[in-house]
Amino acid sequence: MAVPTEPATRAELPAGAGAVVLPEPCLLVIFGASGDLTRRKLVPSLFTLHRENLLAGGFAVLGVSRTPYDDSTFRSMLEEVARRELGPAFDPASWTEFADRLFYHPGDILDSDGFPSLRDRVRSLCEERRIPGNLLFYLSLAPKHYAPAVRGIAASGLSAPGEAMPGFRRVVIEKPFGNDLADARALSGDVSAVFPEERVFRIDHYLGKETVQNLLVFRFANGIFEPLWNRNYIDHVQITMAEDIGVGTRGESYDGAGAARDMLQNHLLQLLALVGMEPPISLSADDVRDEKLKLLRSVEPVSPEGAGEACVRGQYTAGKIRGEAVPSYREEKNVPPGSLTETYVAARFTIDNWRWAGVPFYLRSGKRLGSRVSEVAIQFRPAPYRLFEETACGPMESNLLVLNLQPDEGIYLRFGAKSPGPAICVRPVQLRFSYEQAFGSKSPPAYGRLLLDAMLGDATLFPREDIVEVSWTLLDPFLARWRENPGRDLYFYPAGSFGPREADTLLSKEGRAWRAP
Ligand SMILES: NC(=O)c1ccc[n+]([C@@H]2O[C@H](COP(=O)([O-])OP(=O)(O)OC[C@H]3O[C@@H](n4cnc5c(N)ncnc54)[C@H](OP(=O)(O)O)[C@@H]3O)[C@@H](O)[C@H]2O)c1
Repeated sequence: MAVPTEPATRAELPAGAGAVVLPEPCLLVIFGASGDLTRRKLVPSLFTLHRENLLAGGFAVLGVSRTPYDDSTFRSMLEEVARRELGPAFDPASWTEFADRLFYHPGDILDSDGFPSLRDRVRSLCEERRIPGNLLFYLSLAPKHYAPAVRGIAASGLSAPGEAMPGFRRVVIEKPFGNDLADARALSGDVSAVFPEERVFRIDHYLGKETVQNLLVFRFANGIFEPLWNRNYIDHVQITMAEDIGVGTRGESYDGAGAARDMLQNHLLQLLALVGMEPPISLSADDVRDEKLKLLRSVEPVSPEGAGEACVRGQYTAGKIRGEAVPSYREEKNVPPGSLTETYVAARFTIDNWRWAGVPFYLRSGKRLGSRVSEVAIQFRPAPYRLFEETACGPMESNLLVLNLQPDEGIYLRFGAKSPGPAICVRPVQLRFSYEQAFGSKSPPAYGRLLLDAMLGDATLFPREDIVEVSWTLLDPFLARWRENPGRDLYFYPAGSFGPREADTLLSKEGRAWRAP
């Protein structure tokens, strides 16, 4: 059977066909198969794809990590977690079918002697499952292990298609991609020595969320919003990603990163790019990513002297979440007791271009905040002539558009309406759209969509190397400032609050305030 090495991507398929395209059979080799991400996210998402018949018949997973599982214990371990993660949606009969696709190979990526046996296992599985040599490697490893894993894949001869094993070779790399700009560049060098850019899929799982993808649809499929989407009508933008959970079992890795690297460099800046970018000329991966890059390159870089004014960090102390006492960050498992790592970050950026000149974008994210909410809030300017200002009902609120990314996925628009009665009294009211009500179901898991896209070779939702680099460029002045003095700009906030008070001054000194989520 002739197998194309690079099948058509979703963007190259006829309009309307995207959702039903089946990827070619491939072997997904997950490095870090015993880890948290594989157990809680990757495998449950693959199971969902299986149940929706979105996986090719021969598709299989080969898990690799040091834990000495065999196929059977690997499957049992994953089943237990999938049952817990999926709750009532777990279907035992489908799982039994799906489990036949799961295989395990114990191995240490730091031991080069182990790669030949991995190569043999890959070959025999491809034969057994009639997979035409297509290999998708997923690095679900700590960032320090990305480069050794890529080097091992290359040394084993698995990175390049050959006569014995034709087909595609792609690699998915988890975030964070690097620790700062220099580190990201070094990693790009290691990766590109083995996989050319079009075969590298840097994952930012936020971009796989339906509501995040809807940002482009909302902006560019509707004629009425785009004319308003600029400095003439918009006062400022707030992007919030608030979590109520703490660091959980990720204490050690989180402490080496912090909220700025964990959330600001990737998710928050990606959202900023989607809100601010110009319409792409097509939906091809590079046209979309070119526009994102252009926008991020227009963000005004913060000078080292200005960094203290543009960013506030925080760390949670003990407090209460939904009435339940929770410990401070420093008391979390595997966190050093004197840690100066931030669990909250807020930053102000401006975009130096025709559309956005003078419009501040305020970004914030934190752990152990009062509620779990991710949203983009577009605050419009007040009406130019305040005809109703002098009514008896107090000051009017300007129009506000909120795109709720989670958990109440939807959109609402606030506007003023006359409240019933003899006097003219303007009250804020809301027009609401809910995904669940409109489409009858919760959004599918983001990882499922992204895994499917990687199998299809569609990189639209994966940040390209130049985008990752420009994001690090924006963060580097802050990182340099904190490296110089690790306790700088770090303020404490009780768990269950909405971050340190100092973050309020980022806005209040400009006459604005954070939205209460
Ligand atoms: N967990 C999440 O929700 C989440 C979310 C976003 C991004 N991420 C990113 O995803 C990646 C994985 O995160 P995680 O939470 O799954 O981490 P984790 O639970 O610590 O898992 C790490 C995995 O790496 C394996 N490993 C470590 N050293 C190895 C070696 N020398 N050879 C082979 N395997 C080795 C471990 O297995 P053995 O000990 O059995 O070898 C384990 O399977 C990280 O980059 C993280 O930043 C995770």
